[in-house]
Amino acid sequence: MKILSSEYFSYRNNELFCEEVPVREIVNKSGTPAYIYSRKFFQDRYRDFINAFSPVDHSVFYAVKANGNLSVIKTFVDQGSGIDVNSEGELFRGLKAGADPGKIILTGVGKSESEIRLGIEKNLLLIKAESEEEISLINRIASEMGKTADVAVRINPDVNPGTHPYISTGLAENKFGVDKSTAARLFKMKDEFSNIRFSGIDMHLGSQITSVYPYVEAVRKMSEFYFYLRDNGIKLSHFDIGGGMGIRYSSEEVFTINELAEAILPDLKKLGCRILLEPGRSLTANGGILATKVMFTKSNQLKHFLITDAAVNDLLRPSFYGAYHHIQPVVLESERKEITADIVGPVCESGDFLAKNRSIMQTFGGELLAVLAAGSYGMVMSSNYNARRRAPEIMVDGKEFYFVRSRENFEHLIYDEESLMK
Ligand SMILES: Cc1ncc(COP(=O)(O)O)c(C=O)c1O
Repeated sequence: MKILSSEYFSYRNNELFCEEVPVREIVNKSGTPAYIYSRKFFQDRYRDFINAFSPVDHSVFYAVKANGNLSVIKTFVDQGSGIDVNSEGELFRGLKAGADPGKIILTGVGKSESEIRLGIEKNLLLIKAESEEEISLINRIASEMGKTADVAVRINPDVNPGTHPYISTGLAENKFGVDKSTAARLFKMKDEFSNIRFSGIDMHLGSQITSVYPYVEAVRKMSEFYFYLRDNGIKLSHFDIGGGMGIRYSSEEVFTINELAEAILPDLKKLGCRILLEPGRSLTANGGILATKVMFTKSNQLKHFLITDAAVNDLLRPSFYGAYHHIQPVVLESERKEITADIVGPVCESGDFLAKNRSIMQTFGGELLAVLAAGSYGMVMSSNYNARRRAPEIMVDGKEFYFVRSRENFEHLIYDEESLMK
């Protein structure tokens, strides 16, 4: 069994710490399951982006969809980051966390009228449009409001990001963006959209991309398009390369942000415009764990099972995408043997698992496990299925830790149903 550790989650005397705090101490207060985050991780990763892209005029917009906890958003905002939001709800969260509307990008393949209206009313940096009909709608709403909306067009560069089909977005078969010829036609119609100011071209290839080559290919294609537009009198002020930078879940080789910058900066420099980035996962995933307790263990002729108190409603990714999350004990016992087990939750579904056929130290009821790389697409995808209360979130900052969201109570489960009960 492989034991992973980092500067942020490391073992001291065989016990897992987050920064300077033993995970056991946090869990004694919070109970399990619980999401635990390292603030330093978030700050360091943001700085990696800022430093790597410093040779060009650039800005980072943290993609809130990866982890929308207000304190996580605030951690990035406090560092100077903008945010990328994919819905009214994410915009609400971002504004609550103190994000400057002038540093917010409103994304989304199907924005509602009220989302567009809100984006214009709040004077967001830009609304990213994904179809001709949406551009017409933005223009009409802006005209009704007597305003001019800053709009970027999301282009689908038709590049294979080499990732899971559910998280690939930059192929022609995916629903996102418009093709280049449609985009060119729309930009040329700019005088018809008198309440829109076109500000840039955007792309997002997909998520968990582990090679720089899709970026190199897409940036090259998009640069050619940028120059084509410029030669046709369309002057744009930014090029947004999206997010998607992959992270290490197990032992996969992934590029560093410096390596990505080195690979694409030569083309980006030639553009002479502002470069926008929208990372989510790479800023957050390895800054979080999901701590869980083994409730029971059992075996049959075929398998060992570890039944944990974290379930598919807490962490959907293994079941949804077949995603791998490394799982290891919070306290290592060197004399224990290694077993192969399915690590499963208490929800009434066979799809409720955190890992299948996983090699892990033999563990007994009452002992703690850490599910790694749970800082993104973890809590945000959680649900109340089986009427389970959502887990708390705890932020660690050096020697201190604090709740940044409490465990839900039973009232959260029923919302206003009791008063509406018939
Ligand atoms: C438009 C857009 N930008 C940014 C992101 C963030 O992606 P990641 O978390 O892979 O960096 C996403 C993810 O779906 C997205 O759709």
